[in-house]
Amino acid sequence: MDLVVPSDDLAAAWRDAHAEWGPGFHEDGFGLTADDDVESAQGFSDWVERLRVDAECTYRWIVAGERVLGGVALRHDSHEFAERLGHIGYGVRPSERGRGVASRAVREVLRLAGDVGMTRVTAVCEASNVASIATLTRAGGERVECIGSAVRFRIPVHPIFCA
Ligand SMILES: CC(C)(COP(=O)(O)OP(=O)(O)OC[C@H]1O[C@@H](n2cnc3c(N)ncnc32)[C@H](O)[C@@H]1OP(=O)(O)O)[C@@H](O)C(=O)NCCC(=O)NCCS
Repeated sequence: MDLVVPSDDLAAAWRDAHAEWGPGFHEDGFGLTADDDVESAQGFSDWVERLRVDAECTYRWIVAGERVLGGVALRHDSHEFAERLGHIGYGVRPSERGRGVASRAVREVLRLAGDVGMTRVTAVCEASNVASIATLTRAGGERVECIGSAVRFRIPVHPIFCA
């Protein structure tokens, strides 16, 4: 399993994963919005390019062999939504859940965070999202705040993850 830079080359594999999530733009960690046209070749290419050039968020796709298993996003401190939404977001396609994919991906994201000089990251998720809370806890996260029905975690980026 690797975290890879979003690429046109993965269009077919990404669409296969997208179909599994079902309609809508709810895939956490992919930076997908209702303005993105991921159906046409040009629209997909434009979306991927937007992700690649975003200086305030690092996007990676979780890939194993020819399959896209999920996506992760690392919002840098400068990102306008880093405070509200947290620094990290992630999603795993339904058929790959419960196999440790998110746990390994978050570990790799902490490495990326260390590479850009971050010493801690935050994540915000619904208090009812037991899988996400378990993922964050396993990654060393601590609950720091309740925000309505959501909870904010802080995860230290240990020096081992820093370049
Ligand atoms: C949250 C999500 C990313 C977890 O991905 P995953 O690859 O299934 O997670 P893992 O297999 O690495 O499991 C991580 C932990 O969650 C637990 N877990 C996974 N699925 C679970 C479930 N359905 N119910 C309870 N716990 C669950 C695992 O047991 C593990 O805990 P442990 O380390 O204490 O054993 C995935 O469920 C998902 O994509 N959900 C929709 C998007 C989302 O909620 N993203 C997070 C937004 S904040």
